[in-house]
Amino acid sequence: MTSSRIPGFRDLTVEQRRQAVAEQAGLAVADLAALDPGGFSLEDAATMSENVVGAFSLPVGVAANLVVNGRDVLVPMVTEEASVVAAASNGARMARALGGFRTSSTGPLMQAQVQLVDVVDPLAARLRILEARDELVALADAQDPRLVEVGGGVRDLVVRVVDADGERYVVAHLVVDVRDAMGANAVNTMAEAVADRVAEIGGGRAVLRILTNKADLRLARARAVCDVQTLGGRRVVEDMVHAYKLAAADPYRAATHNKGIMNGVSAVVLATGNDTRAVEAGAHSHAISPEGRYTSLSTFEKDADDNLVATLELPMPVGLVGGATATHAGARAAVAMTGVRSAAELAELITAVGLAQNIAALRVLAGEGVQRGHMSLHAKNIAVAVGAGPDEVGPLVERLVAEKAFRHDRAEQVLAQIRGAR
Ligand code: MEV
Repeated sequence: MTSSRIPGFRDLTVEQRRQAVAEQAGLAVADLAALDPGGFSLEDAATMSENVVGAFSLPVGVAANLVVNGRDVLVPMVTEEASVVAAASNGARMARALGGFRTSSTGPLMQAQVQLVDVVDPLAARLRILEARDELVALADAQDPRLVEVGGGVRDLVVRVVDADGERYVVAHLVVDVRDAMGANAVNTMAEAVADRVAEIGGGRAVLRILTNKADLRLARARAVCDVQTLGGRRVVEDMVHAYKLAAADPYRAATHNKGIMNGVSAVVLATGNDTRAVEAGAHSHAISPEGRYTSLSTFEKDADDNLVATLELPMPVGLVGGATATHAGARAAVAMTGVRSAAELAELITAVGLAQNIAALRVLAGEGVQRGHMSLHAKNIAVAVGAGPDEVGPLVERLVAEKAFRHDRAEQVLAQIRGAR
């Protein structure tokens, strides 16, 4: 990747944008053909899901300006929502002046749970199961020799006793290093394979044998410092911190604040063929404070120079091997565009995009509000709907926004005036 800063990117045609993306990402333009609306065949669709009757298209946008750990990255995003890609690019630009995003992550550790019911001595059962650690780990590892071969496999066995509605469940967790996979299949297979033996040792009956989406051992983190002048001055920074503090304290605001983060996160998760619901479920579970309250996923503070310092930590169970990421040609093109080489790198990139999205949202909210941007997009849609040509859309949108008139009848009148004046 040479640079993710492409001046005038948004004003190019789709073809020109592809050219620019291919050039910057070191790809051939043909590599991006998989992103064509027809690039995903009905046969492909039929192998991915059941009862297939079609394939559903959404825009693939590319967020510019992002720098992660000193590397420029162009970010493919799939979303139905206008303004998301522009906001991600804006947030990335705000962080760029002081070096962009710094990221880190834990190892790719997923966990599967085996629930035992009807255990007469749950506390002792817990210890009996832990005593059989080596046997259970070996049994689980034997389910996935390929994973063990590439350096993954079971890392730990944890056993918990969970009191629930008058019951005492013994819950064994297999902690598995899934390397570059999302890992659901690997850990589910392992949980099912060890369940009977766990039940035998624990002296109960195994019911649930499934991964936990509270992937709190598979975290990705991103951090950025945004220059106070780039943001528009001290007052803007202070107001962004006020916006964050409300999200930290008030679940009503936190839900919206976190939704803004997920605008970026889910768009990249989807573009790369990963499981949006798994990442979203992980984020929900991570948004609970130690006191049990729903809160902000990110933090915002001021540094000694009045710059804004933003951080985000999220469970990020995404993979590069297995699943749609490997089989969907569009997802493969999207991953190639990012240049990431490991699931950990992808997880960190997605977290950086979530934070860029969040910074951009708070910057707009601390300033003019979101509606101006939304309304000019709305005006553009109206302009196209009333038949404005490529050179008429710009002046027409300008007039509609200036008049705050977002009606078709007014758009038709103004378009007639523009044409009359030519
Ligand atoms: C809109 O999709 C997302 C925002 O509401 C996020 C936020 O309020 O922080 C703008």
